[in-house]
Amino acid sequence: MARRRLIYEGKAKILYEGPEPDTLIQYFKDDATAFNAEKKATIDGKGVLNNRLSEHFMTGLNSIGVPTHFIKRLNMREQLIRSVEMIPLEVIVRNFAAGTLSKRLGLPEGQQMPRPIIEFCYKDDSLGDPLVTEEHIAAFGWASQQDLDDMIALSLRVNDFLSGMFLGVGIRLVDFKIEIGRVIEGDFQRLVIADEISPDSCRLWDIETGRKLDKDVFRQDLGDLGDAYTEVAKRLGVMPRTNGKPAAGPKLVN
Ligand code: TYD
Repeated sequence: MARRRLIYEGKAKILYEGPEPDTLIQYFKDDATAFNAEKKATIDGKGVLNNRLSEHFMTGLNSIGVPTHFIKRLNMREQLIRSVEMIPLEVIVRNFAAGTLSKRLGLPEGQQMPRPIIEFCYKDDSLGDPLVTEEHIAAFGWASQQDLDDMIALSLRVNDFLSGMFLGVGIRLVDFKIEIGRVIEGDFQRLVIADEISPDSCRLWDIETGRKLDKDVFRQDLGDLGDAYTEVAKRLGVMPRTNGKPAAGPKLVN
């Protein structure tokens, strides 16, 4: 069998050439990083969980007409995706104050926002993904005004969909980050949700207890990250209700 061509290796995922033109294979690693990769660890089973969780969210979004790059899950760690031209921005949506917003504006963690707040960060690890304004984005040509409007509209739809889904299982979606790409179809371009949606890029708090069920468990040394992600997956019905870490056996694959 021919060796697959590696397209890109990031902190938590690897992209390989896909089987058809305009497709890629996205492989989820067990590596966790925080604070711009200053803190690193390998969390057994994280990649398997994030592959399943991202599939769950992206499939749901596709089904309500929010386009994503997701085509299908291939196996425990890999999914087939559309190859897109990534917009070099991270879009952050905040429903409650936390993290850098709390620090920057002195807001108590957990304070509800008057409405969902959208922020943009320029994707550049060497600069630490700095916060940028719409002025910067337009002036430097990272996205057009139309793209920006579409990105905001898409992000708010993702927020409503995910907030509702999490609320139904007793979890508060505090904030999250998504990345968006362009698909060219003839003379038209369409924006689609790309990258991943997983507890690596969301803040998820148990509504009753306030327990953190996201990557802050790793950032702040609050316990076992695998247990937190397994809890999220179980509540959403994404993993079978087994105790402990996901088994590496084929029985978990439908
Ligand atoms: P934020 O509070 O800005 O940063 P930090 O997580 O460093 O305190 O993050 C808001 C949300 O966006 C949070 O759920 C984490 C997510 N996020 C990422 O997944 N990657 C990133 O590079 C950034 C800046 C945020």
